[in-house]
Amino acid sequence: MKLIRQHSFLFILLVLVSIQKSKAQYNSMWIPDTLSGTNFNLDIKDTFSQIVNTGNQTITAGINGKFWGPTLFFNQGDTVHMNIHNFLNDSTTLHWHGFHLPAVMDGGPHQVIPPGSIWQPYWKVTNNAATYWYHPHLHTMTEEQITKGLGGLIIVRDPIESALALPRKYGVDDIPVVLTDRDFNTSNQFTVVPYGDSMLTNGTLRAQYTVPSQVVRFRILNGAIERSYNLGFSDNRSFYVITSDGGLLNAPVALTRYLLHAGERVEILVNCSGQSGTTVDLKAFNASLGNFVAGGENFPNGPFANALGKIDFNILHVNIGPATASPITTIPSTLTNNILLNAANANITRKLTISDSSASLIPGVTILGPNAFILNHKLFDITHNEYEVPLGNTEIWEITSSSVFGHPFHIHDVEFNILSVNGAAPDAAQAGWKDVVFIPGATGGGPGGGGTPSVVKFIAKFDDYADSLHPFMFHCHISLHEDEGMMGQFIVTNKTTGVKDLHATGPEFSIFPNPANNKIFISFADASTQAYYVRITNAVGRTIYMLPRPQLNNGIDISSLAKGIYYLELTDEKTKQTSTRKFIRE
Ligand code: C2O
Ligand code: CU
Ligand code: CU
Repeated sequence: MKLIRQHSFLFILLVLVSIQKSKAQYNSMWIPDTLSGTNFNLDIKDTFSQIVNTGNQTITAGINGKFWGPTLFFNQGDTVHMNIHNFLNDSTTLHWHGFHLPAVMDGGPHQVIPPGSIWQPYWKVTNNAATYWYHPHLHTMTEEQITKGLGGLIIVRDPIESALALPRKYGVDDIPVVLTDRDFNTSNQFTVVPYGDSMLTNGTLRAQYTVPSQVVRFRILNGAIERSYNLGFSDNRSFYVITSDGGLLNAPVALTRYLLHAGERVEILVNCSGQSGTTVDLKAFNASLGNFVAGGENFPNGPFANALGKIDFNILHVNIGPATASPITTIPSTLTNNILLNAANANITRKLTISDSSASLIPGVTILGPNAFILNHKLFDITHNEYEVPLGNTEIWEITSSSVFGHPFHIHDVEFNILSVNGAAPDAAQAGWKDVVFIPGATGGGPGGGGTPSVVKFIAKFDDYADSLHPFMFHCHISLHEDEGMMGQFIVTNKTTGVKDLHATGPEFSIFPNPANNKIFISFADASTQAYYVRITNAVGRTIYMLPRPQLNNGIDISSLAKGIYYLELTDEKTKQTSTRKFIRE
């Protein structure tokens, strides 16, 4: 009798605990809305969102919504027109990560959108079918603006991918999964830190989702500030990688783990056929990461301390439900036939370096932590073009890193092919089109430095778009490092014909001093040049000054301009050709 009573008491307790748990444990994963067509309206706003289940809403920023933004569908070959309205109280930018487009449309730090302004870039989509994304890129503000929630996915379709028997029902068997983590203060507000204590999957804490019992595609973006995620399933099942960042692989690659770094995307197929009624967890197996891979460190305190460091944790609790009508049930054996770039065709090998510099050695720069991570031995300078890449060049970029830490390196304008990582060919799942490549830390080094430098080589072709004014960026995709100056820029030039370079045919001149805060002066390469017209526009092309036949000897007074980047367009009296130069009002 006593035994039975004890048993039933235990049973009731267990039932109560499990009811409590199932209520509190999971939230249903949010799926971003979609926009398609060729005209896209994106409103960037400060807002708030109930991210934590109880208590205060979190102050966030969203694009057409409360956190994050809509998923944009592009068709290869279409010209897409963007209408971006910045309703924030701050300037921002919106960068089309992974896209091949004119530099002036790129949305990097040079295409600032001031508060209240509208920016309307447009370009022809030439990228392969794959998963891309858009996010703010305002220098020194990227970490903060991404933390608040700004960003969104882009899915490109093309005829090759569309002809394959792949899951393609968005939110049903083709599921966007945006990975990031956040730190909440006691009143549920985000703190701007490199590592959060809580996993956010599509902006959802403790996310769960029901998928059909068939082949399911997950499009996974690492949208974190810093952390890498070592993806895998709780039952160690195989999954099939079908894309690298910028397109399909030749064939699916079966894996049980895939290490995804900040900025990278991967699409995977998972076969859930016949598993209706079961569950499995998509996890980050980060306990096994090395100490110098983001998320593999375990700082007990200080600015990098966080609850997810060097542990395994859940990303998504997957409930497997009934199959849909006409399900995909098999993994295709081949996908596409990539024609990769050949190192023998390279015009040049550019040698870049990544190194650590003691933060205390850099005057006037605030660095979180002991090290500044730097490219080519210097911090980012928005007025300095590190390279001039001739239009049409095929280039090998060889990155040698003596940094103790691993850095995901990203370049704008192009998709590239990895040639080697420390002498070895890339893994099969990375042997396609990429725009982020992980540069491992020096081997055998420690916090004090030392070790054997890592060397990563990739190859890219710089086609189509030359612009001597607007540069493209290359940088570490850990937003903290990027904001602290681990970034550089290059211009693509067209010296031969000038046809695609809008700025190559006008008068040769330079602006001095630059930066300036009072007056700027013009110096002509040919002293006989007369100015017919000068127009000064701000970073979004709003005309500030129109000066017909200006007297330039006394300079141009710019003291009333707000601080920032400006363009001075000068028309030659004789030829009526114009050239533009950039200057900075400091
Ligand atoms: Cu996703 Cu230059 O960035
Ligand atoms: Cu980018
Ligand atoms: Cu970095």
